[in-house]
Amino acid sequence: MRVSIFGTGYVGLVTGTCLAEVGNHVLCIDIDQAKVDGLRRGVIPIYEPGLEPMVKANTAAGRLSFSTEAAEALGHADIVFIAVGTPPDEDGSADLRHVLAVARSIGEHMQRPTLVVDKSTVPVGTADRVRAVIAGELQRRGVDIDFDVVSNPEFLKEGDAVKDCMRPDRIIIGAESEDAVERMRGLYAPFNRNHERLVVMDTRSAELTKYAANAMLATKISFMNEIANIAERVGADVEMVRQGIGSDPRIGYSFIYPGAGYGGSCFPKDVQALERTARQIGYEARLLSAVEAVNDDQKRHLFALISRHFDGQLRGRCIALWGLAFKPNTDDMREAPSRTLLEQLWAAGARVQVFDPEAMDEARRLFGERADLRYCESSGQALEGADALVVVTEWKAFWSPDFDALAAALGGKVVFDGRNIYDPDQVESAGLAYYGIGRGR
Ligand code: UGA
Repeated sequence: MRVSIFGTGYVGLVTGTCLAEVGNHVLCIDIDQAKVDGLRRGVIPIYEPGLEPMVKANTAAGRLSFSTEAAEALGHADIVFIAVGTPPDEDGSADLRHVLAVARSIGEHMQRPTLVVDKSTVPVGTADRVRAVIAGELQRRGVDIDFDVVSNPEFLKEGDAVKDCMRPDRIIIGAESEDAVERMRGLYAPFNRNHERLVVMDTRSAELTKYAANAMLATKISFMNEIANIAERVGADVEMVRQGIGSDPRIGYSFIYPGAGYGGSCFPKDVQALERTARQIGYEARLLSAVEAVNDDQKRHLFALISRHFDGQLRGRCIALWGLAFKPNTDDMREAPSRTLLEQLWAAGARVQVFDPEAMDEARRLFGERADLRYCESSGQALEGADALVVVTEWKAFWSPDFDALAAALGGKVVFDGRNIYDPDQVESAGLAYYGIGRGR
């Protein structure tokens, strides 16, 4: 099949590449000329395991190409994806400017019957708005072309995006016509083998499914962070509690890890957007507000522990920070807990030495050069002359440090484990003080 995709961010680029991988001819469109030029040469704008070789192979095979021209997209394909960003507006609701601009271009350049697929995370009712915008453009042009709009939200995780896309656990199709469902079924057939993954519904339910999934996961995390805060105060170990409740299959082990708070481009934005959607229709989503509030506090929790340990005396102290990305296997620092911690440490007069396996360039882009920040080339270098170590992101490379070497390097002899990746006894037996999240120490 011939497919065009508007937007070459995480979602668009990964989706386009995976669709090309199974034999489709995919044209990816972006308004950023430099990005398109780079992609044509195999330069991938994001760090995502497995993506680069796949982009290169499919480009070389002639199945994947890139352009800035909307007209080309509508000439190339009769299935057109909208996969542009929906950043938060000033009040936290999703900003649909980019989605509606693409809808306008689609209407402007449509030449033959086209199926428009909404993949961006968009508030309920957006498919209807996209439909209206396209119809308006066609009317303005005085042409009558058949088109349909379906909602097909994505569920890929950064760091696992290629795997999630190639082997989805569900494919949500929100459609208003049988014909649209059948065409989507055909497109997704290579990803829908062995058992049925398609869940077909109306467009509004599909749009809400996406928000509900992210809000549910964010709720699990905030719930667990709240339990960790209680555990800390009553002298219990949340890690034991986590295993105790996770063993109940109705609860499950995944997404109940307490930590430094959830970040990234999705959970914070989507929880907020759903809350705003609810408010706009006169419903107060109390649970969602609490999920957000707990997370905001949790992002400041590590600093509270550090400050308490040093009796509020952080001026002139040097803190080593391992991990900047919002989670492992990505260079993405959007809404990362590390950013909240850095701002708090700087405000308190501390100097910081940072290391992240992939996010150093991103950190430089965000913070530039400053006297109270040293960019380090290794986790070991970050420890040089530091008083304390704080682990903010649980990269595998940080899981088994030499604790004796750590104790020798750290002036203040203290480790703050923001992801509970260490055994407190092992850390303490090396002569280091240990602080985790919700572990009573
Ligand atoms: C999330 C969802 O998991 C995807 O299904 C969804 O498609 C995506 O958003 C999206 O809407 O595009 P992602 O933001 O890449 O994916 O990251 P997650 O792996 O879900 O992690 C989010 C945050 O939660 C991270 O900061 C992570 O450290 C934190 N987290 C996760 C915890 O603190 N505890 C946990 O138990 C799990």
